[in-house]
Amino acid sequence: MAGAELIGKEELAQIQELFSGEKTTLYRYAPGNYKAREFEEKFAAYMGVKYAHAVSSGTAAIHCALAAAGVGPGDEVITTAWTFIAPVEAAAALGAVPVPVEIDETYHLDPAEVEKAITPKTKAVVAIPMWAAPKMDEIAEICERRGVTLIEDAAQSLGATYKGRKLGTIGKVGSFSFDAGKTLHVGEGGMVITDDKDIYDRVAEFSDHGHMHLPGLLRGKDPRRAKGLNYRLSEVTAAIGVAQLAKIDYILSKARENKYKIKDRISHLSNLTMRPFTDEAGAQGDTLIFKVRDPKAALEFEAHLMEHGFGTKILPEAIDWHYAAVWGHLLKAYDRYRDANLEELWPKTGQLLQSSICLNIPVLMDDATIDKLVAAIISGAEKIG
Ligand SMILES: Cc1ncc(COP(=O)(O)O)c(C=O)c1O
Repeated sequence: MAGAELIGKEELAQIQELFSGEKTTLYRYAPGNYKAREFEEKFAAYMGVKYAHAVSSGTAAIHCALAAAGVGPGDEVITTAWTFIAPVEAAAALGAVPVPVEIDETYHLDPAEVEKAITPKTKAVVAIPMWAAPKMDEIAEICERRGVTLIEDAAQSLGATYKGRKLGTIGKVGSFSFDAGKTLHVGEGGMVITDDKDIYDRVAEFSDHGHMHLPGLLRGKDPRRAKGLNYRLSEVTAAIGVAQLAKIDYILSKARENKYKIKDRISHLSNLTMRPFTDEAGAQGDTLIFKVRDPKAALEFEAHLMEHGFGTKILPEAIDWHYAAVWGHLLKAYDRYRDANLEELWPKTGQLLQSSICLNIPVLMDDATIDKLVAAIISGAEKIG
């Protein structure tokens, strides 16, 4: 749960600071405290990018990112068949056609599948790092060669890197979430980052009804050139974000430390196949994923962990939420999926997700809990044979 585990007096102090001025404004565009700007500036500095724009959720963030990249009606947006549905919803909300493709052994977009899925209508590829990096060099090369915009929805992967580059900074635009399950937690919130001034302007406009925020103009006189919505982040939420961001190095290092304390003691188990990485040193520590023999063994393993007081995160339950084959309520609106049996479209992804276990690795985990979890994993591995 990362940042959510550490909400405390520092967050309260930031809110108190917000209220300690002569005039407190809780609305980000009123003259006053500007915690949202402070959060954005500090976030941009942390990520090493020119621009960051804070919004009201991770869903809002990817919606703004796609809109700013020019995704619109009829465009095709390629993304992974294993993700939370938010980026798919965002593409659909813009009138685009979401095109989920199979994952590879790293549990990310398979570059070969991306290449196969590109058509003259493809506008963007949304890479979604799940606590680690996809094969970003290959994906970036394909996007460059085929003239497609690369976007990163790094909601799950704030702080993770790929060959020394922070995830979210590799594509033209990157988005993040600060909901309860993410590296930083602010209640509800998100961030969009880019080095491209035009993209940044368009993100800010889309998140604020199209307001162009021209300097020296009264808000009511502000012009607009494109439509938008209200995805503004409140000052109170931004204040929490400032305090959470100051904890990011601690959050990342503790989770990684805990992950290795567990992984090093279970890696020898021959019937658990540890997830392979493109760059494990840069991966986040807040999950540990391994594959077992088959879906039946994964369910048995999950039940065993539950009996010992440990839950799983997303896998193997992905099959109920984080998997393209269960997005019929959204995908069936499109001709290409209407008559399809969704279960048959991403067989490799379905098989891998159903056969995998994903453990949540908290930041605050004492050695006794780690010992108990390791023992439960070892006995689980023995049980499934
Ligand atoms: C990849 C991805 N994008 C977007 C979101 C949405 O974030 P939020 O819950 O802040 O709207 C999530 C949430 O889990 C996510 O995993």
